[in-house]
Amino acid sequence: MPAVIVVGTQWGDEGKGKVIDYLAEQADMVVRHQGGNNAGHTVVVGDAEYKLHLIPSGILYPDKLCVIASGVVVDPKVLLDEVAYLHNRGISTDRLRVSADAHLIMPYHELLDGLAEDRAGAHKLGTTRRGVGPAYMDKAARVGLRVGDLLRPATFAARLKRVLDEKNRLLAKAYDMPGFDFDEILQTYLAYGEAMRPYIANTSVVINDAIDAGERVLFEGAQGTMLDIDHGTYPYVTSSHPVAGGACIGAGVGPTKITAVYGVVKAYTSRVGDGPFPTELDDALGQEIRERGNEYGTTTSRPRRIGWLDAVVLRHAARVNGLSGLAVTRVDVLSGLSELKIAIAYRYQGELMYEFPDGLDILHEVEPVYETLPGWQEPIGDVRRFEDLPPQAQRYLERISELTGVPLALVSVGRDRACTIALRELF
Ligand code: IMP
Repeated sequence: MPAVIVVGTQWGDEGKGKVIDYLAEQADMVVRHQGGNNAGHTVVVGDAEYKLHLIPSGILYPDKLCVIASGVVVDPKVLLDEVAYLHNRGISTDRLRVSADAHLIMPYHELLDGLAEDRAGAHKLGTTRRGVGPAYMDKAARVGLRVGDLLRPATFAARLKRVLDEKNRLLAKAYDMPGFDFDEILQTYLAYGEAMRPYIANTSVVINDAIDAGERVLFEGAQGTMLDIDHGTYPYVTSSHPVAGGACIGAGVGPTKITAVYGVVKAYTSRVGDGPFPTELDDALGQEIRERGNEYGTTTSRPRRIGWLDAVVLRHAARVNGLSGLAVTRVDVLSGLSELKIAIAYRYQGELMYEFPDGLDILHEVEPVYETLPGWQEPIGDVRRFEDLPPQAQRYLERISELTGVPLALVSVGRDRACTIALRELF
C-alpha cells in the first residue's frame, strides 16, 4: 500500500514540481494537502510548459485522480481559472476532487494580506499576498467559510453576513478603507460553488479508500520545511505545515498509512521573501546562479535569493520529516563552477553549532562553516545513470547524503521529465 509523501527540505522552490511529476507517472492518485495558490509548480512536458498553483500537477496525466484535500485553502476563482487553463490546453479535469472541508480564500483575505504587509514596512514577511495567511487565521479563529458551505446557500449567506460585518468594521476602523459588498460576494461565490459542484467530495474517504484498495497515492507538499509554521524560520514562514506530518493532517490520513517520505533538495539554496538566510550569496556568483537557474518566483516573479547548500538546514529537514530518501534537483545548474561549498555547521559566539538554532536572533548572527568540494565543468543534462555523472558531481551528491544520513533516491539534471536519474524504486 504505498503512500508516498514528497516534501521540500529548504525554503520552497526546490523543484518539487518536477519530482512530483516524475513520481506521478507511477501513482494512481496525487493529493495536495496544505497551502494554497501561494505555491507554484512548473512542469515541462516535451515542448510544453505548464504552470499550476493549486491543482496537483498529476492532472497532466490522463489517468490519475487529483485531490485538493481539506488542509488546503482554496481561492475558487484561481481554481476555476486553472480548470479553464487546462481545458484550453486539451486537458480534462474530470478526475479532480476538492474537499468540502477545505477553507475558502475570500476577497477580504487577499486585501488584508497586502494591507498587513504594507503596514509592516521593514518588518514585512514578504508574503505572496494571495490571502493565504489571513484564510488560515480565520480557520484557526473558527470564522472561516468552507468549500462545502457554497452548496448550502442559506448557511453560506448567514455565515458570510456575520464574518463580513466584522471584516468591514476592521477595514473601516483599522485601515480607513471602504468595505466589501455582501450581495456581490454572495452571488459571485455561490456561482463559483455551482461551477465547483462536480469536483466537491469527502476527500478523506476518497484517499483512504484508494490506499486501502492498494492504489499508489502521492502526497505533494507545497512550500518547504523552513517555511513550516512550527518547524521553519518563524515568523518568516507560511501559515501551514509543509512538513511530512502536515500531509496526514491536511489529507485526513493516519500516519500508519505512510510508506515513504522523500525530501526534495535543490543542489544550492534559494529563498523568496524576507528573513535570515545564513548561506546567502549576495554577490556576483549568487547573481550568476540566479540567471543560470532562472530563479524567479513562479507565483510572484520575484528574484529568488541564492546561496550555497546548507547541511544544517537539511539535517533539520531530515529529522522533522523523517526522510527516507533524497531527491536532489538542479544539479545541472552547478556545471561550470570551479568549486562548490556546503555549510556543515554554524559558528555562533565562537562555538560550533550543528543543529538548526531555535531562535531567529541567533540565526541572524551565525556564520556558516563551509566545506569546499571541487566542481565539474561539463554539462550533465544528458546523463541518465549516476555512474555516468562526472566524479566530482557524484562526490557532491554523496556528500549531501553523508551529511544528512539519508540515502539518495533521485537526481534531477534538467527541467524535462526525461532528465531524471532514479537510484532506486520509489514507490
Ligand atoms: P505566504 O505563504 O504567502 O503567506 O508567504 C509567507 C512566506 O512563504 C513568504 O516568505 C513567501 O515568499 C513564502 N512562500 C509561500 N509560498 C511559497 C512557495 O511556494 N515557494 C517559496 N516560497 C513561498
